[in-house]
Amino acid sequence: MHLKTLFLALVAGAAAFPQAKPSEVHTTVARADETSDKLVFCHFMIGISSNRHSAADYDIDMQQAKDLGIDAFALNIGVDPYTDTQLAYAYESAARNDMKVFISFDFNWYHVDQAAAVGSKIAQYAGRPAQLMVDGKVFVSSFSGDGIDVAQIKSSAGRDIFWAPNYHPGVGNFGDVDSALNWMAWDNDGNNKAPKPGADVTVADGDQAFIDALGGKPYLAPASGWFFTHFGGEVPYSKNWVFPGDLLWYNRWNEILELSPRFVEIVTWNDYGESHYIAPLSSPHTDDGASKWVMDMPHSGWLEMSRPFIAAYKAGESSPNSYISEEKLIYWYRPTPRDIECDSTDTTMGGNPDNSTGNFFRGRPDGWETMQDEVFVVSLLTSPATIKVTSGDVEASFEAPAGASAYAVEMGVGQQTFAIVRDGETVLSDTSLKDIVDECICGIYNFNAYVGVVPPAETIDQLDSTGLAALGQGLMAPCPTNTLGARAARATA
Ligand SMILES: *[C@@H]1O[C@H](CO)[C@@H](O)[C@H](O)[C@H]1NC(C)=O
Repeated sequence: MHLKTLFLALVAGAAAFPQAKPSEVHTTVARADETSDKLVFCHFMIGISSNRHSAADYDIDMQQAKDLGIDAFALNIGVDPYTDTQLAYAYESAARNDMKVFISFDFNWYHVDQAAAVGSKIAQYAGRPAQLMVDGKVFVSSFSGDGIDVAQIKSSAGRDIFWAPNYHPGVGNFGDVDSALNWMAWDNDGNNKAPKPGADVTVADGDQAFIDALGGKPYLAPASGWFFTHFGGEVPYSKNWVFPGDLLWYNRWNEILELSPRFVEIVTWNDYGESHYIAPLSSPHTDDGASKWVMDMPHSGWLEMSRPFIAAYKAGESSPNSYISEEKLIYWYRPTPRDIECDSTDTTMGGNPDNSTGNFFRGRPDGWETMQDEVFVVSLLTSPATIKVTSGDVEASFEAPAGASAYAVEMGVGQQTFAIVRDGETVLSDTSLKDIVDECICGIYNFNAYVGVVPPAETIDQLDSTGLAALGQGLMAPCPTNTLGARAARATA
């Protein structure tokens, strides 16, 4: 089992939510002249895909990622017995789907004195057709790993590698790297938790620290939309916190367009346990205990939101607007107001979980105060329109320009409806499959996001039985399973 142990104004009426990074903002970082070498990666957790039985089980992920504009999956590996089987499937599937992959060594499991083992693992896969090559070298990345002997890795690998580890400025030796991945895609307190008064390290601060440490070498910048993890004493890896989410997915992509780094890594494809997945819930995976906050919480609308941003990034442009060909609304929200009281049934309240990591908190996730009780909407339009949002009893409308823009509406308990209106006519509209409720779903504090799209997907994205295997573990309240669409089913019954 793989686990990451390391680490708007409220619009009550009808005012547009200001974009965090209007295109007029100039950064001190020069934009790259060369755009053709820009690449987008997405972090893929091999540690939860041990239930895949053939290369074909990776085909849908490869096809969806490629279609979105992702160039390569960063295959995060630990040292589990199934790792080689799954790596081989992933490399084979990537090859036949015209995708690229590379290994990302996870130093929660590898140790920095294992440079020789890292090098020989690289050698095992480096010659396969789907291996990502950059500047003629075998691309390799990591999670953490500061201090490893890079010369030893290269001599064990027996070939030149493009070493893009997740070193930390001030810790790892940036003289040894070809690029570096910044993992911290969320504003934080400098200590792997949400910002606190007097301790706020923004994602942009992290960008600058990496750019400074890299001294002109290419930067591998992170992009993520969310972070919520809520493991209690029912598992040995208890941890419970959020980083600020809200409009992050939209704001960060605008920052990426301004920054225009050579590489971007989406964090992540399928780390359901930390709620930063963009893969469908149906992407095959095992249940590390996260299903209690992942069930009925699809995120694949975020794939759709990023599509024009990825195209603009690769073209070196600062606006996604000319890459919007299909009109859409992408919306998201937490399923309950943040003040809801779940202490009597929440899974983090019982027992005496190990807290040697400092990552375990009881009750509401640490950092919950950084999340706003709002519904977020990104409109992707080819011409101006009125966006109408009904969140429970709250009604709001916005005059949206052509292109991409974002809005926030005060969260209202009840149904959530979204519409694009032009000249008094509704062009597109839909009611979300997920109501906002004033109760503890499955008894727990669920600070994950529900992401929907107008027009909606044709099929309802759901966890399969393997993805739900640990659903009941630790729960102290009833937990109806796969409820999305139940309302519609009832209505037509
Ligand atoms: C776990 O450790 C962190 C860091 O020391 C601390 O802030 C937190 O309160 C601890 N959790 C519990 C439940 O005591």
